[in-house]
Amino acid sequence: MGVSSPLVEAFEVTGGNRLSGTVSVTGAKNSVLKLMAAALLAPGTTTITAVPEILDVSVMAELLRRLGCEVDHDLVTATLRIDVPEQLHHQADYDLVRRMRASICVLGPLVARCNRAEVAVPGGDAIGSRGLDLHISGLNRLGVEVHNEHGYLIATAHDRMQGASIWLDFPSIGATENLLTASVLAKGTTVIDNAPREPEIVDLCNMLVAMGAQIGGIGSATLEIHGVDRLQPTTHATVPDRIVAGTWAVAAAITQGDVMIANARAGDLEIALDKLVMAGAHIDVGSDGFRVMMEDRPKAVDVVTLPYPGFPTDLQPQFIALNSIASGAAMVTENLFEARFRFVQELRRLGADVRTDGHHALVRGCEGLSGAPVEATDVRAGAGLVLAGLVAEGVTTVFDVTHIDRGYANFVEDLTGLGGDIRRIDA
Ligand code: EPU
Repeated sequence: MGVSSPLVEAFEVTGGNRLSGTVSVTGAKNSVLKLMAAALLAPGTTTITAVPEILDVSVMAELLRRLGCEVDHDLVTATLRIDVPEQLHHQADYDLVRRMRASICVLGPLVARCNRAEVAVPGGDAIGSRGLDLHISGLNRLGVEVHNEHGYLIATAHDRMQGASIWLDFPSIGATENLLTASVLAKGTTVIDNAPREPEIVDLCNMLVAMGAQIGGIGSATLEIHGVDRLQPTTHATVPDRIVAGTWAVAAAITQGDVMIANARAGDLEIALDKLVMAGAHIDVGSDGFRVMMEDRPKAVDVVTLPYPGFPTDLQPQFIALNSIASGAAMVTENLFEARFRFVQELRRLGADVRTDGHHALVRGCEGLSGAPVEATDVRAGAGLVLAGLVAEGVTTVFDVTHIDRGYANFVEDLTGLGGDIRRIDA
């Protein structure tokens, strides 16, 4: 009996073209998913605009439907309408959580609205083990009991949650999102110290404030939340995706191109853009975006990933790709996700000279890469491999591109619009 395998898509990239033109960035994946979860906090219709057309948005929409919401995604206007009922279901099943780890961000809103949440425990994934201890200990401080039963985190608030002081050992994005969305409806004041300052956290805070939440210190490392009794639905535009913008910036630099990245905020990418300048790029910042021009072979640049405003881990693979064809050598240090160097093995298939030791990667730039079949192990690894393929001699086939589709809307169309030679194929 034959075993049928599902159709798998790949990108076929032919290297050698210099990118030029304009590309426009949509709303951020790592913001919109949390905004969608936050909509659960208020019965009624919340509208989110600048929504990227990516796989993860569809998975989150499906999860919200299972929780009792009606969700309509208008692709033409990039708008999501989420109708949230008075009575929500409180269980997020494993079949959805395993498809998207960000499903964990319904935990805070569900416990705030229902006093109980059952959310499947996401497994480790391709970039690291990704703990939940900070989510759990923070919720405990708010008076929520959390235990693990048959693969589910069961969170129970026996009474209305009570505001508390929470010091985070690490400025975790996911934990802070759950603590914010739980504490906005708690009794009294919650202070989150050592909070992350990422633009996506600011975006979530701004939407919560528009819903009636009282949050002080937005954008700082100390968030002060004064709980309210009820929130109202709102309309909110998603912040532009700085990681997509940064990916196109590296694409311009690696191909020695000239690309205008529109609807992007250079201020959200200061260190990454500074690194590109050190690599030899010229960057012009305008009111609606920025232009990246590179005339010569890039120079290798050291990179150390850190929470915002440090260099983002989600641009680390793209910079390893850049360094792999640069003049000189660079040390790339990954401080957030222990397995994020896994993709280096794939990059080596193209001839890159990269050696890893723990959380350091030594990249010695080589004169040229040579196209080969490679596998995208996660969304950013996939983007990094495509960037390398754009400058490799011959054809690079990147398999498992569902990872890339999870985070980049119109990836192929955007790159071909800039003159890149890339197409989607059935593999
Ligand atoms: N951590 C713990 N315990 C916790 C929570 C986090 O040890 O309870 C550790 C993690 O294992 C990791 C570090 O803290 O080593 C950072 O985790 P964080 O919670 O900040 O990250 P996240 O919320 O899981 C989000 C993004 C990631 C991005 C990171 C860091 C979403 C959906 N994901 O993950 O995005 O890399 O913040 O900026 O927002 C991507 O888009 O490719 C991606 C992986």
